[in-house]
Amino acid sequence: MGQILRTIAVLPGDGIGPEVTRGAVELLQDSAATFSHRFEFREFPFGGSAIDQCGDPLPAETLAGCKSADAILLGAIGGPRWDALPLNRRPESGLLRLRKELGLYINLRPIRLRHSLQGISPLRADRVSGCDIEIVRELAGDIYFGEHELHGENGNARARDVAAYTSAEVERVARYAFERAAARRQHVTSVDKANVLSTSVLWRQTVSSVAREFPGVTLDHLYVDNAAMQLLLRPKQFDVILTSNMFGDILSDEAAALAGSIGLIPSLSRGREGLPALYEPIHGSAPSLAGKDVACPLGAIFSATLMLGESFGLATEAQHIEAAVDRMLDSGYRTMDIAEPGSRLLRCSEFTAQVRHEMRDALVHSERYGWGV
Ligand code: IPM
Ligand code: MG
Repeated sequence: MGQILRTIAVLPGDGIGPEVTRGAVELLQDSAATFSHRFEFREFPFGGSAIDQCGDPLPAETLAGCKSADAILLGAIGGPRWDALPLNRRPESGLLRLRKELGLYINLRPIRLRHSLQGISPLRADRVSGCDIEIVRELAGDIYFGEHELHGENGNARARDVAAYTSAEVERVARYAFERAAARRQHVTSVDKANVLSTSVLWRQTVSSVAREFPGVTLDHLYVDNAAMQLLLRPKQFDVILTSNMFGDILSDEAAALAGSIGLIPSLSRGREGLPALYEPIHGSAPSLAGKDVACPLGAIFSATLMLGESFGLATEAQHIEAAVDRMLDSGYRTMDIAEPGSRLLRCSEFTAQVRHEMRDALVHSERYGWGV
């Protein structure tokens, strides 16, 4: 295995963001040492903390650092401290600008129920066991990026948010969803609201025409209200769910709950091949947990393993970390949000320390018997 050198921009952000990214960075450092790679980490201010430091949620230095990195690891942003700011100056606006500036139009959110966590899913095991869904959310268009207006006050106010898509925007993300499905269980479910919205009529037409390029992949269409219900009734019918920015935001939180906790789910945001991709847990900054060292680092850790596999082609390295996590979960170690009666409860930093310990044990084993044993 050749040594690789990669630069990773780290944006810890706000709330629990710094705690969970710290764990993910430590595991990436261990992994680099074990497999003789060189990962260089460069940290930049982002979100609310960047507003406090430099008056801008996405400072120029942060954007430049992200553009010149090989991949970006983001924690979480936002919090009540910045809630009174106008929409275009809040931490969230920095994230939207970052997505736009880096051309990140694909957002992949893998939802997989891990065997050892079956007991904490809100669904019965017979409905949910083996659930393995990839949500492909369009990330650069829709109502998120149209005009937002709020005028007037005191009973005489008016607000407007514009949702818009072009066929080219739908086509490029649809193609990615079909490629993912072609490498999985050959099934795409496209979710829209084509009985009401023009953008959804365009969405459905465009997705159907992209489907013709992938004759081996089955395509279904669901209205978003039905899709929300089907996720709870029969989640195992889904392989790849392809949907718009707004619907994807909502459905991915719902689907995350099936896997046990939103704290567990990573994401990949990417644009054209070869440009840096951004990895972040899908959870928010959880202000009520911040600074208490009780958050679950797994969303960030799995974001790091997704980075190893998807951006760096280091599948064995990713597997080394994930296998250590699974052994820990099998032994009953949990953070608060995924605990069950009888669990061995750990704090956020303790959880990461234990993963590192498991990784070292596996290393000793591999030195004796080789990897993959
Ligand atoms: C997400 C988040 C963001 C979004 C917010 C923080 C702007 O909810 O990544 O799911 O709505 O896209
Ligand atoms: Mg969200």
